[in-house]
Amino acid sequence: MQVTINNTPIEVPDGETILEAARRSGYIIPSLCYAKDAKHKSSCMVCAVKNCGNGQIIPSCTTYPTEGMIIETESKEVLLVRTLSLELLLSDHRADCEAPCSMVCPKGLDVEKMLLYYDSGCYEESYAEIAKAFRLPEIGCDTCKAPCEKACRRSTIDKPVNIRGIIKEMAGIQTTTLLLTGTNGLKKDKNKFFSRLGRFTNHERERLKQTTSTPSGCLHCACAGREGCKLRMYATVEGIKRPRYDLSSMLTVMNKTHVNGNIWFEQSKCIRCGICVYNSENGFTFKDRGFGMQVVLPEENKPHIKEELATLCPTGALYVADSKSQLTKLRNSHSSVVENQQVKN
Ligand code: SF4
Ligand code: SF4
Ligand code: SF4
Ligand code: FES
Repeated sequence: MQVTINNTPIEVPDGETILEAARRSGYIIPSLCYAKDAKHKSSCMVCAVKNCGNGQIIPSCTTYPTEGMIIETESKEVLLVRTLSLELLLSDHRADCEAPCSMVCPKGLDVEKMLLYYDSGCYEESYAEIAKAFRLPEIGCDTCKAPCEKACRRSTIDKPVNIRGIIKEMAGIQTTTLLLTGTNGLKKDKNKFFSRLGRFTNHERERLKQTTSTPSGCLHCACAGREGCKLRMYATVEGIKRPRYDLSSMLTVMNKTHVNGNIWFEQSKCIRCGICVYNSENGFTFKDRGFGMQVVLPEENKPHIKEELATLCPTGALYVADSKSQLTKLRNSHSSVVENQQVKN
């Protein structure tokens, strides 16, 4: 059949959605609750387009075109609906993508990652992170006013992580290699959508006080699934810094639960798209209805979840962690407390 997308006539075979036809023709349409070749249902509306025949805004990922349909994918109206849809998703999302310490380091050091390696005894890897950012770290940090330590969330619990001390320690151990591998530092993309959590609430502080202490004292606050997160990517593209609605303080921060193997689930990062529900048998399921609806994984279903399912998740909610199990354990050390609390409740 023939349809018109953005004033261009396009031949669309049976069984192809508007989203697929438009993408095949080179138009960029974002999608979150759509997964190619997997079961999905419309829920996020970030793939919105306009049916000019009746003026309706429709989800392109589940709509099959009809003969002669006229579609708009790039008008102001359509783009506004997409932005609003993203903002709604982010309104109850604990978007602590990057740890605050990493965000403020003027050299672009991924402080959280460096500490993650340090805490797991992987000193070479820890040092390698430092070497990516500094030519001479021991000097660089001496003259730096340490905004990382001022921003450290641990300070709202007791005292900040001694980040400079650890960098110095690592640099001292690896001085020879340092001179060989040092660089001028990394450029951080300030336009990226990033943490908006700030300090912990009283309730969170009380909970985190009970967490397993790591050698450095670091809580490893960054989102472990941030590398492949589409929600973050689209928020960045849309230039969203802070959604105009914010209900995220109602959610629990850092509530990662172990699924099996290297698979982890963090409910406060879930946008309830349902992909994991529709594509797992005896796995994830919806709980409750309306605004309070949640995607949950009953304890007895955890063994059935496969890594391929985690790769379909559009956010950092369901993810496969670093294969070094020690790192996995450390990064998710908060989960045991939460799981125990959930059992009690
Ligand atoms: S607790 Fe760790 S990850 Fe969080 S801000 Fe402090 S140093 Fe960074
Ligand atoms: S799921 Fe995505 S948007 Fe949310 S905190 Fe993680 S990286 Fe950021
Ligand atoms: S865990 Fe991921 S795939 Fe499952 S509903 Fe949440 S966001 Fe969607
Ligand atoms: S991707 Fe189409 S409604 Fe979510």
